[in-house]
Amino acid sequence: MSMIAWSNQFSVGVQEVDQQHQVLIGIVNQLSAALDMQDRDLDSHKVINELVQYTVYHFGTEERLMREISYAGIDRHVHEHQAFVKQVGQMVTQLDHGQGPSLLELLLFLRDWLISHILNSDRDMGDALNLAGIR
Ligand SMILES: [Fe+2]
Repeated sequence: MSMIAWSNQFSVGVQEVDQQHQVLIGIVNQLSAALDMQDRDLDSHKVINELVQYTVYHFGTEERLMREISYAGIDRHVHEHQAFVKQVGQMVTQLDHGQGPSLLELLLFLRDWLISHILNSDRDMGDALNLAGIR
Protein backbone atom coordinates (compact mmCIF):
# COMPACT_ATOMS: atom_id res chain seq x y z
CA MET A 1 0.00 0.00 0.00
CA SER A 2 1.38 3.36 -0.94
CA MET A 3 2.36 5.71 1.82
CA ILE A 4 0.85 9.11 2.33
CA ALA A 5 3.37 11.88 1.84
CA TRP A 6 2.56 14.97 3.84
CA SER A 7 2.35 18.06 1.68
CA ASN A 8 0.87 21.51 1.97
CA GLN A 9 -2.32 20.37 0.31
CA PHE A 10 -3.15 18.64 3.61
CA SER A 11 -2.66 21.79 5.65
CA VAL A 12 -5.86 23.15 7.18
CA GLY A 13 -4.07 26.31 8.26
CA VAL A 14 -4.13 25.58 11.99
CA GLN A 15 -0.81 24.48 13.46
CA GLU A 16 -2.13 22.25 16.24
CA VAL A 17 -4.43 20.37 13.87
CA ASP A 18 -1.77 20.03 11.17
CA GLN A 19 0.71 18.59 13.67
CA GLN A 20 -1.80 16.01 14.86
CA HIS A 21 -2.70 15.08 11.29
CA GLN A 22 1.00 14.48 10.63
CA VAL A 23 1.14 12.11 13.60
CA LEU A 24 -1.94 10.23 12.33
CA ILE A 25 -0.51 9.92 8.83
CA GLY A 26 2.76 8.74 10.39
CA ILE A 27 0.99 5.91 12.21
CA VAL A 28 -0.88 4.86 9.05
CA ASN A 29 2.44 4.88 7.13
CA GLN A 30 4.12 2.85 9.87
CA LEU A 31 1.41 0.19 9.64
CA SER A 32 1.55 0.24 5.87
CA ALA A 33 5.33 -0.26 5.84
CA ALA A 34 5.08 -3.13 8.33
CA LEU A 35 2.42 -4.80 6.17
CA ASP A 36 4.43 -4.35 2.98
CA MET A 37 7.47 -5.92 4.61
CA GLN A 38 5.29 -8.72 5.97
CA ASP A 39 6.77 -7.97 9.34
CA ARG A 40 5.95 -11.00 11.48
CA ASP A 41 6.75 -9.10 14.64
CA LEU A 42 4.16 -6.48 13.79
CA ASP A 43 1.73 -6.22 16.65
CA SER A 44 -1.03 -4.88 14.44
CA HIS A 45 -3.53 -4.92 17.27
CA LYS A 46 -1.29 -2.66 19.31
CA VAL A 47 -0.60 -0.23 16.46
CA ILE A 48 -4.28 -0.04 15.50
CA ASN A 49 -5.22 0.60 19.11
CA GLU A 50 -2.62 3.34 19.23
CA LEU A 51 -4.08 4.81 16.07
CA VAL A 52 -7.64 4.70 17.40
CA GLN A 53 -6.61 6.24 20.72
CA TYR A 54 -4.70 9.03 19.06
CA THR A 55 -7.59 9.62 16.64
CA VAL A 56 -10.06 10.01 19.51
CA TYR A 57 -7.68 12.44 21.23
CA HIS A 58 -7.27 14.36 17.97
CA PHE A 59 -11.03 14.57 17.36
CA GLY A 60 -11.29 16.02 20.87
CA THR A 61 -8.87 18.79 19.89
CA GLU A 62 -10.85 19.63 16.75
CA GLU A 63 -14.15 19.59 18.61
CA ARG A 64 -12.77 21.92 21.30
CA LEU A 65 -11.56 24.37 18.64
CA MET A 66 -14.92 24.24 16.85
CA ARG A 67 -16.76 24.94 20.11
CA GLU A 68 -14.42 27.85 20.82
CA ILE A 69 -15.63 29.65 17.71
CA SER A 70 -19.23 28.33 17.83
CA TYR A 71 -18.60 26.77 14.42
CA ALA A 72 -21.83 26.42 12.42
CA GLY A 73 -20.81 23.05 10.97
CA ILE A 74 -19.92 21.46 14.30
CA ASP A 75 -22.83 18.98 14.49
CA ARG A 76 -22.18 17.55 11.07
CA HIS A 77 -18.44 17.38 11.71
CA VAL A 78 -18.79 15.68 15.10
CA HIS A 79 -21.22 13.21 13.54
CA GLU A 80 -18.56 12.28 10.96
CA HIS A 81 -16.06 11.69 13.76
CA GLN A 82 -18.49 9.53 15.73
CA ALA A 83 -19.49 7.48 12.70
CA PHE A 84 -15.82 6.87 11.91
CA VAL A 85 -14.95 5.75 15.46
CA LYS A 86 -17.96 3.43 15.47
CA GLN A 87 -17.11 1.88 12.11
CA VAL A 88 -13.43 1.37 12.95
CA GLY A 89 -14.45 -0.16 16.29
CA GLN A 90 -16.68 -2.65 14.49
CA MET A 91 -13.97 -3.50 11.96
CA VAL A 92 -11.38 -4.04 14.70
CA THR A 93 -13.76 -6.32 16.62
CA GLN A 94 -14.42 -8.35 13.46
CA LEU A 95 -10.69 -8.52 12.75
CA ASP A 96 -9.99 -9.73 16.29
CA HIS A 97 -12.48 -12.55 15.73
CA GLY A 98 -10.91 -13.49 12.43
CA GLN A 99 -13.93 -12.27 10.50
CA GLY A 100 -14.62 -9.40 8.18
CA PRO A 101 -11.95 -7.16 6.75
CA SER A 102 -8.31 -8.02 6.40
CA LEU A 103 -5.75 -5.79 8.04
CA LEU A 104 -4.99 -4.34 4.61
CA GLU A 105 -8.67 -3.53 4.01
CA LEU A 106 -8.88 -1.83 7.39
CA LEU A 107 -5.77 0.17 6.65
CA LEU A 108 -7.05 1.23 3.23
CA PHE A 109 -10.28 2.38 4.83
CA LEU A 110 -8.37 4.37 7.47
CA ARG A 111 -6.12 5.96 4.87
CA ASP A 112 -8.89 6.91 2.46
CA TRP A 113 -11.21 8.23 5.18
CA LEU A 114 -8.43 10.28 6.72
CA ILE A 115 -7.38 11.88 3.43
CA SER A 116 -10.93 12.68 2.36
CA HIS A 117 -11.90 14.01 5.80
CA ILE A 118 -8.82 16.26 6.00
CA LEU A 119 -9.27 17.60 2.47
CA ASN A 120 -12.97 18.37 2.92
CA SER A 121 -14.43 18.70 6.42
CA ASP A 122 -11.21 19.65 8.20
CA ARG A 123 -10.32 22.24 5.59
CA ASP A 124 -13.74 23.87 5.95
CA MET A 125 -13.22 23.89 9.70
CA GLY A 126 -9.73 25.34 9.24
CA ASP A 127 -11.08 28.17 7.09
CA ALA A 128 -13.58 29.08 9.81
CA LEU A 129 -10.90 28.90 12.51
CA ASN A 130 -8.60 31.11 10.42
CA LEU A 131 -11.38 33.67 10.00
CA ALA A 132 -11.72 33.70 13.79
CA GLY A 133 -7.98 34.35 14.08
CA ILE A 134 -6.89 30.82 15.04
CA ARG A 135 -3.86 29.59 13.12
FE1 LIG B 1 -12.17 16.33 11.72
